[in-house]
Amino acid sequence: MLLNGVVNTQECLEKMTAAFETAELFFGHGTDNAWDEACWLLETLARRHALPSLQLDTRLPPALVTEVARLATQRIETRKPLAYLLHEAWFCGLPFYVDERVLVPRSPFAELIDTRFETLIKTAPRRILDLCAGGGCIGIACALAFPEAEVVLADLSPDALAVARINVDKHGLGQRVQLVESDLFAAVTGKFDLIVSNPPYVSAEEYAGLPAEYLREPQLGLLTGNEGLEIPLRILQQAADFMTEAGLLLLETGATWPLLDAARPDLPFLWLDFAYGGEGICALTARDLRA
Ligand SMILES: C[S@@+](CC[C@H](N)C(=O)[O-])C[C@H]1O[C@@H](n2cnc3c(N)ncnc32)[C@H](O)[C@@H]1O
Repeated sequence: MLLNGVVNTQECLEKMTAAFETAELFFGHGTDNAWDEACWLLETLARRHALPSLQLDTRLPPALVTEVARLATQRIETRKPLAYLLHEAWFCGLPFYVDERVLVPRSPFAELIDTRFETLIKTAPRRILDLCAGGGCIGIACALAFPEAEVVLADLSPDALAVARINVDKHGLGQRVQLVESDLFAAVTGKFDLIVSNPPYVSAEEYAGLPAEYLREPQLGLLTGNEGLEIPLRILQQAADFMTEAGLLLLETGATWPLLDAARPDLPFLWLDFAYGGEGICALTARDLRA
């Protein structure tokens, strides 16, 4: 067993970290290094074993060590992101159910939602659309940040929407958050004060070079044609029809952003800065898009 002889927190974390590093795992789904990944795994399982606050010298129950070892071994052997093994990911300080039907939440949108988009919007949005919502983390966090708002989560994948449904129920938002199966805006109705979207924007070339962990995620959530621009460009073409007069579109395109910027020189993109990492979210008003 991976954690043979482990008695306390420190030994557990050190052994797991060493094993993760030896296996050359990739960290990009909630952590960026082996130690943090080990802490996340142990903390989550300890919480489930009713051991919520661990010190480095806390003695761990053998049943907990066995379960941690089992998941750490699975993490190494399958290369699945840890969130899929735990069925839990955190976004905006909120827990979300995840499995392989959706991407693991990791968008810099969290930073904007935490401040309720303070530099971008003056009045609280009444209708919000999360387009390409996946498991719903962005739209659900927006619904909780704006308790008066009605929120629509739209996605092409019924599988992703099934996960979003679990999360809507988990956060008690059934009255205010609606799910729509839709190819972008095709089945969406009405106008929105705020559209937030983290769509697929990975090119075929970039996809082919991704670490194994990303290939465990649904390809539909990452890959899109035309060098990663196909879906972002379609969103830019269609969004204005679904925005109120003072509406705002916030569109994430990650590292593809310079290509999108160059592809639409007619648009006055405002590319946002992030204190905690990430890139490639632009802000465009309905007026920008209509002009
Ligand atoms: C990058 S994932 C984002 C998921 C979630 N918003 C997040 O930040 O974790 C993109 C999502 O877009 C969905 N998608 C792909 N093509 C789509 C389309 N044509 N119309 C609507 N949704 C689409 C995928 O099913 C996937 O859930």
